[in-house]
Amino acid sequence: MTMAPAPRPVRGLPIVRSVAALREWTAAWRGEGARLGMVPTMGALHAGHSALIARARADCGRVVATLFVNPKQFNRADDLERYPRDEGRDVAFLEAAGVDLLFAPPTEEMYPDGFATAVKVSGLTDCLCGVARPGHLTGVATVVTKLLLQGAPDSAYFGEKDYQQLLVVQRLARDLDIPVDIVGVPTVREDDGLALSSRNAALDPAQRAVAPGLYRVLRAAVARLASGESAEPVLRDGRAALTEAGFDSIDYLELRSGETLAALERATPTARVFAAVWLGGTRLIDNLAVTPAA
Ligand code: PAJ
Repeated sequence: MTMAPAPRPVRGLPIVRSVAALREWTAAWRGEGARLGMVPTMGALHAGHSALIARARADCGRVVATLFVNPKQFNRADDLERYPRDEGRDVAFLEAAGVDLLFAPPTEEMYPDGFATAVKVSGLTDCLCGVARPGHLTGVATVVTKLLLQGAPDSAYFGEKDYQQLLVVQRLARDLDIPVDIVGVPTVREDDGLALSSRNAALDPAQRAVAPGLYRVLRAAVARLASGESAEPVLRDGRAALTEAGFDSIDYLELRSGETLAALERATPTARVFAAVWLGGTRLIDNLAVTPAA
C-alpha cells in the first residue's frame, strides 16, 4: 500500500486541531521514513522553547510543536485565567523556528465530556512542585501521555528548567512502554541569569530586578555544596539570602538527587539544587546541577 503524501499547506505553518488530523500528518511522515520530533508547549513562546525546537530539528526530519494551555495542570483557577495566550504570535514564532506542523487542539478535543483518566507518577511527584502545587504534575503527566500517544513521536523534547517535569515524563514513558526518547534540554537564561519563562512577563520592573537573585543564590549554594559542605547550613543560608534579595516567599530550596529526587544531606555526582519562590503573584522555579569537586 502506498502512503498518501502529507497534506501540503498553501503557505505558512500548517495547524491541526484534531487528533485525527494530527495522525494523518504523522502517518504520512512515518511513511516517508522521517524521524519525528515533538515539542509540547503551552505557548507564550520564548528562546527556551526555541532551544527545544532547535534540538528537535537537529535530531529529526520532521518536528511537530503542540500548543495547549492544559487546564488540568493549573491548581488555581486565577492562574489558568491569566496565563498569557496569543496564538497568532506563537504561530509566527514557530514558523520562524522551522517547525513543520502545529497541533493546537481545543479543550474539548483533549478532554471530551466524560474524560475520566489521570496518569499519576508516584514517588517523583511526592516532593518539590508535587507538594507545593497539588495535582499539577498529575495534570502534566496526563496531558503529556495523551500527546505522546496522539503524535507517536520518535523523540520528545523537554526543558531542564522544569527538571521534575522532565523526570516525570521520562518515568511515565518508561512505565507505560511508550516507545519515545525523552530528551532533556539545558535551561536557557537571560544575560543576568534569570531562567526564561512565560511567567517572567508578569513581573513588574522592581520584581524583574529582584528575579535574577534566584540564580545567584542557587550558584552560591552550588559552589558550597560542590566543595563538600553539608546541605543543611547551605540551604539555610540560601533561604535567608533569597529573603534578603527581596523574594516575597519561598516554596522550597532543596538538595535532591537528579535521578530519583531523593533528599540529600550532601552533594553526589547527580545532585541538583531546586528552588521555587514567589514575587508578588508570580511563582518562579529554577534548578542547577551540583558537580562535586573531584
Ligand atoms: P511550557 O511552560 O510552555 O514549556 C514548554 C517546554 O519548554 C517545557 O519542556 C519547558 O521545560 C521548556 N522550557 C521552558 N522554559 C525553558 C528555558 N528557560 N530553557 C529551556 N527550556 C525551557 O512545560 C510546559 O509548558 C507544560 O507543562 C507542558 C510540558 C507543555 C505540558 O502541558
